[in-house]
Amino acid sequence: MKIAILTSGGDSAGMNAVVRAAVKAGIIKGCEMWVVREGYEGLVRGNTEDKPPHIQDTPQIAEGVDVTLVENLRFGDGDLLKNGMGDYSNSKGRSLKGRYIVRVGWDDVRAWFAEGGTLIGTARSAAFRTHEGRMEAAYNMIKEGIDALLICGGDGSLTGADVFRAEWPSLVSELQSQSKITEAQATMHAHLRIVGLVGSIDNDMSLTDLTIGAPTALHRICEAIDNINSTATSHSRAFVLEVMGRHCGWLALLAGVSGGADFIFIPERPPKVTPWEDEMCAAIHRHREVGKRKTIVIVAEGAHDCNLNPIRADYVKDVLSERLGLDTRVTTLGHTQRGGKPCAMDRILPALQALEAIDALLEATPATPSYMIGMQENKISRVPLVEAVTMTKAVAKSIADKDFETAMSLRDPEFRE
Ligand code: F6P
Repeated sequence: MKIAILTSGGDSAGMNAVVRAAVKAGIIKGCEMWVVREGYEGLVRGNTEDKPPHIQDTPQIAEGVDVTLVENLRFGDGDLLKNGMGDYSNSKGRSLKGRYIVRVGWDDVRAWFAEGGTLIGTARSAAFRTHEGRMEAAYNMIKEGIDALLICGGDGSLTGADVFRAEWPSLVSELQSQSKITEAQATMHAHLRIVGLVGSIDNDMSLTDLTIGAPTALHRICEAIDNINSTATSHSRAFVLEVMGRHCGWLALLAGVSGGADFIFIPERPPKVTPWEDEMCAAIHRHREVGKRKTIVIVAEGAHDCNLNPIRADYVKDVLSERLGLDTRVTTLGHTQRGGKPCAMDRILPALQALEAIDALLEATPATPSYMIGMQENKISRVPLVEAVTMTKAVAKSIADKDFETAMSLRDPEFRE
């Protein structure tokens, strides 16, 4: 089987560990492994340049040595991928310019477990959202003989994957009727195998307890709070920290628990009353009364009040300064939460999940659903991708309907106030 791996949506720590583990697991299980540069955009662009000479060379293989094994070891585009995607020629005259679907070997992904971001690139592809774009993507895959896709991304990316799989048979027959592919190719690629791994710092996907990248982002926030704590204590100041998470409060909530925050704003459980300012000031006043020298308030970027009006860090700062007379600063952590080396959990999770993903692809039949590989109660799990995406969307709907109890229980059935 020829399996292509792509990363899509916002990058997250651990995506490279996914690529590494999937390449190695795939090779061990006898698959040919490829990567797609720049997410779905790379599928749409495909390969316009010929294979570089080092791939066309016939390897010198001693008698008795497994040819596939040698081929799998020797591809050698890892350095190009690692050094800015190889949109230039290196000293050996090699380049990945014009090549978005690239075969990789064991050595190419050496030590990728420790690399931040995604070395194969990610992009938000407008073209892939169109029928024409998906036609191009299907054509480019069939041209290279790819029969399975492993996608690591957030809910949007995984939804896109499922749409692509559902549409695949009609894309194939359209390509055949336009004589772009032969009947033999159409028969060989009648079905597409897809599996999804959730790469997102937000931990916002239902039916999995942890998404790849979320533990590292949480760790970054904790470190930031520790740093802020010492300066805040020195000056007896208040700090309002804005953290990422899009529509999900997981990072904010757990960072608050880990860093000893005084007040936390999350989208799924906004303050029950408006104006909420009284509730926040009363809590912080109490903490100051018992001798706390510093104040930490965490605002999730998607936080709002119970009428869905956004709660902004700057406004929280003004309230703390004006009502409580606290010397207050705002710190927006931004993309420092997303980049950098993955923590141990964001290496372990990709390793275990990528292995499961390769098995899911090898076992897939036209009748099996596309699976999302997750983790439930500390065990690697396989759930139909559509179910996970549907439930994730239900959380967003509950919030939009101001049904915060449902939103919170869908996020975490064991949540207690
Ligand atoms: O989904 C990951 C995430 O980092 C969110 O937490 C944040 O809202 C968003 O992506 C930021 O996206 P961008 O990097 O495109 O600004």
